[in-house]
Amino acid sequence: MGLKSFNAIGFVCVCVVAISIVVSGRPATFLEDFRVTWADSHIRQIDGGRGIQLVLDQSSGCGFASKRQYLFGTVSMKIKLVPGDSAGTVTAFYMNSDTDTIRDELDFEFLGNRSGQPYTVQTNIYTRGKGNREQRVNLWFDPAADFHTYSITWTHSLIIFGVDDIPIRVFKNHEAKGIPYPKLQPMGVYSTLWEADDWATRGGLEKIDWKKAPFYAYYKDFDIEGCPVPGPTNCPSNPNNWWEAPSYQSLSPLQTRNYRWVRMNHMIYDYCTDKSRHPVSPPECVAGI
Ligand SMILES: *[C@@H]1O[C@H](CO)[C@@H](O)[C@H](O)[C@H]1NC(C)=O
Repeated sequence: MGLKSFNAIGFVCVCVVAISIVVSGRPATFLEDFRVTWADSHIRQIDGGRGIQLVLDQSSGCGFASKRQYLFGTVSMKIKLVPGDSAGTVTAFYMNSDTDTIRDELDFEFLGNRSGQPYTVQTNIYTRGKGNREQRVNLWFDPAADFHTYSITWTHSLIIFGVDDIPIRVFKNHEAKGIPYPKLQPMGVYSTLWEADDWATRGGLEKIDWKKAPFYAYYKDFDIEGCPVPGPTNCPSNPNNWWEAPSYQSLSPLQTRNYRWVRMNHMIYDYCTDKSRHPVSPPECVAGI
């Protein structure tokens, strides 16, 4: 009897905690959802933890990760990238299942450039261990002049990489055509700032200029709304999650227009049309955007 009522209270507490995770006020502070994973000394909290500064110098880059993993949902943050001469630096924002062999991963990589040259955003998608799906877009604004919102939305029907609510990359669920879609493994949210001048800028021709170090990137308005794993087991398949609403299962007419505009005017590389790598177009490319 006593044990039974104790369990009942325990159960109520678990539910309250679970609900508060999903609906608590957003954006959150950095430490609510994230932890430093690389070089504590190079990540500084600012504005009472509502923002952070990432530092890259010759001694180290740095990185952070979400405390939890999620299965479906949306993550966004505002980022102000390294200004001026950022050639050779890479700022990454991604989700990753942390499973080596059958990895699922959704990548944003911001490739720095010489002063006045455009930043390139590379996106890539791994599903069930298969990647090699790079696309590149040159941004239509200076991402180091101001904060802009970068988001990944992941539903049962599609994945959208957003820049200020403009889709720059969409990956639809084409399982019916035999193309694996990430849905079995939860993913964590990650970000890093590091040096990769062997490939990042003009294919590695432009080297990092350490005289310009330290390099700084800024983040704020951390927002993760998704199904934490471990968490309520019925959450990932719950059709009442707002990101599973019918209106989020395909692009709106405005999103479609914006996505076309990005592809026509700002896309500089698409693995789908790279005949040297893919003489036969990969199936998801044939399935259409
Ligand atoms: C850097 O600038 C060059 C020259 O404008 C451009 O071709 C390239 O796409 C830009 N981005 C990277 C990452 O090299």
